[in-house]
Parts: sequence; structure tokens; C-alpha cells
Amino acid sequence: GKGNHRHFMLKEIYEQPAVIGDTLQTYLDPATRAVTLPALPFDWAKVSRVTITACGTACFAGMVAKYWFEKLARLSVEVEVASELRYREPPLPEGGVCIAVSQSGETIDTLAALRYAKAQKQIIVSVVNVPESAIARESHVVLPTLAGPEIGVASTKAFTTQLTVLLTAAIAAGRARGTLTAADEARLAHALIELPAHVNETVNMEDQYRHIAEDILSEARDVLYIGRGSSFPVALEGALKLKEVSYIHAEGYAGGEMKHGPIALIDELVPVVVVAPTDSVFDKIASNFEQVKARGGKLILMTDAKGAARLGDQAIATIVLPAVDPVIAPILYTVPAQLLAYHTAVAKGTDVDQPRNLAKSVTVE
Ligand code: F6R
Repeated sequence: GKGNHRHFMLKEIYEQPAVIGDTLQTYLDPATRAVTLPALPFDWAKVSRVTITACGTACFAGMVAKYWFEKLARLSVEVEVASELRYREPPLPEGGVCIAVSQSGETIDTLAALRYAKAQKQIIVSVVNVPESAIARESHVVLPTLAGPEIGVASTKAFTTQLTVLLTAAIAAGRARGTLTAADEARLAHALIELPAHVNETVNMEDQYRHIAEDILSEARDVLYIGRGSSFPVALEGALKLKEVSYIHAEGYAGGEMKHGPIALIDELVPVVVVAPTDSVFDKIASNFEQVKARGGKLILMTDAKGAARLGDQAIATIVLPAVDPVIAPILYTVPAQLLAYHTAVAKGTDVDQPRNLAKSVTVE
């Protein structure tokens, strides 16, 4: 049941500290602070390329993972929506690994892309929430997300646990490839161990999200989300969540793309949600923020205390999140995006758990 929550979506958002913790129990040894992946039938050091394929939200998890595998393991990674990969039939290199990401494990396009990659002699690793699913059965290795059943049609806890698993995999790959020092691994493991507490703190800032949703987002016709680096896929996910459950038109963009078109949309009616943890591209996203401000856009800033000190007075609303290692930030910054979408949907009176036209699992094309 929904417990004391009004909707499954809200219950599942609130479950994230616990299910991220459960997932970490499986992939991280708290005593040694080392990542512990199940035995893999391949050596990361010999992997020529990683191809990640998935649909929708699961594909955004793959996009975040691309930043992680590239940075931590110096691996070259392609990410493609499964419906394109399966018909495009690209050549996949010998010694490649294909990672299929799916909550249900039954998404038809993801399954077909997996079969194509398998025929191209890729090793198939799946990140799934349902271990008995078709995608799990057809994989060489299964890395389960321990999110528990996800009932709300909009994916929430499945996404953050997918990210958790993919980050531990990227850390393991970095270790095996000698691109990640023991000190860096220990630092990231420590940051992961602290993550459930930070997520807990973030979900509990409930009133803030409700006010922004009621006073700003639910009144808008269009909403933009922008981010850079690994915050770019978080912007895409934030926009998808909002459009799915509130039916408000929303788009996510890489901050650097604003000047190449989307900034033409900005006027005083368009809220822009800026995903801006203090990281190596903060100054760049800050300049996108200022460009939007100069054109009268309504800025909703998600950042940490340092970012808020720098830009907060120019935003109409600032969500101040706990300061975390920038590598972990995409997991944490997803949570306020989910809650903004949720409260906007509630304010608009839409069917949050069962949005029109959507099915929980897309098993037919
Ligand atoms: C969005 C959402 C969908 C799914 C997509 C893939 O909230 O739920 O975009 O992420 O349909 O589904 P799975 O992960 O079951 O393959």
C-alpha cells in the first residue's frame, strides 16, 4: 500500500534513502570501503568500448553513467535509446560490453537492442529491478537495483538506484583499469555511504518544493531545465518527470546550448530550473544563469550553500542541497526534481500515479 503517503510516487520518492542504502549494502563493503561487484566474466582493463542502451528515464541513467565511466575509468562510452540502436544496427567492436538498463526488465526495445548487441558478440550486463525479467535472463551478468517494486508509472527510486549501481560499476572499472587511485576510491565510497543521509535531508525539505510547485511551476505553460556535465542528464530527467505527471511542456538542455536556440523562448513567463552543484563547470552554468536572468526568465536554482551564496539573490527560488562530492551530485539533485514534478502534478490535480497515455512497462512497440 501507499502507507501514509497520498500517492505511490511520493512514497517511492521517500523510500530512496532506504533503497539506495540497500543497494549500497550489496555493492559496497562498509568495513573496507571497497566496491564489491559480483564476479564478472570479463576484465574491465580489456574492454574496448561500452555501449549503454535503455529507454526513457533508464536511458538518462545511462547518460549520467557515461560521464562516470569516462572520468573514473577512462572508457569510451556510447549511450543510445534502444529504439534507435536496434534499427540502426551499428557495428559494435570486439571486446565491447553492452549495458542494458531497465526497471521492469521487459521493455521491448531494450530487449531487442540487447539481442542485437549479443549477436554482435558484446558481453551483456543488465542493470534491472526485476531479476526474473526477460532482460535479466538474456544477460551474461545481472546487476540488480534493490529498489523494490515500483508502482507509480513515473520512475523515481528505480532511477536513483540505477545510478547507484552504475557508479559502483564505474568505480570498479576505474580500479581494474588503474585510472582511479585507492584514495579516490575511498573518497567516493565514503561519499556513497553518506548519500542516504543526504537524500533523506533533501526529501524532507517538503514545504519548499510545494511552494515552488504551487506558486511558480503549476502556473507555467513551458518550463526549461538546464545543467552541464553530469547535471545535463539530470535536467533531462527533471523535464521528463514534469511533463509526464503534470502535462506541462518541459525541456531539458545542456547549458551551453541555450545560445544556440532555446534562449529565444525566455521571457518573464518561463521558469528555468538550473541544476548547479558546485563542480568544475559551475562558472559555466552560472553564466547561462545570468544570460537567462538578463532576458527576464524566472530562475529556480538548485545548488549547495556555496552556489547559493554566489547566485541565490538573483533567483526567484533557491533550493539549497547538502554539499556533496560532485561525482555523487546527479543522484542527489534528481530528488528535488522529482518532488517539484510531484507537487506540480498535485497542484494541477492530475492522476499522479497513472498519468494519461502512459503504461508502466512498454512491452509492445
Ligand atoms: C519515466 C519512465 C519511463 C521508463 C521507460 C523504461 O518516468 O518511467 O521513461 O523509464 O519506459 O522502462 P524500463 O526501465 O522498465 O525499461
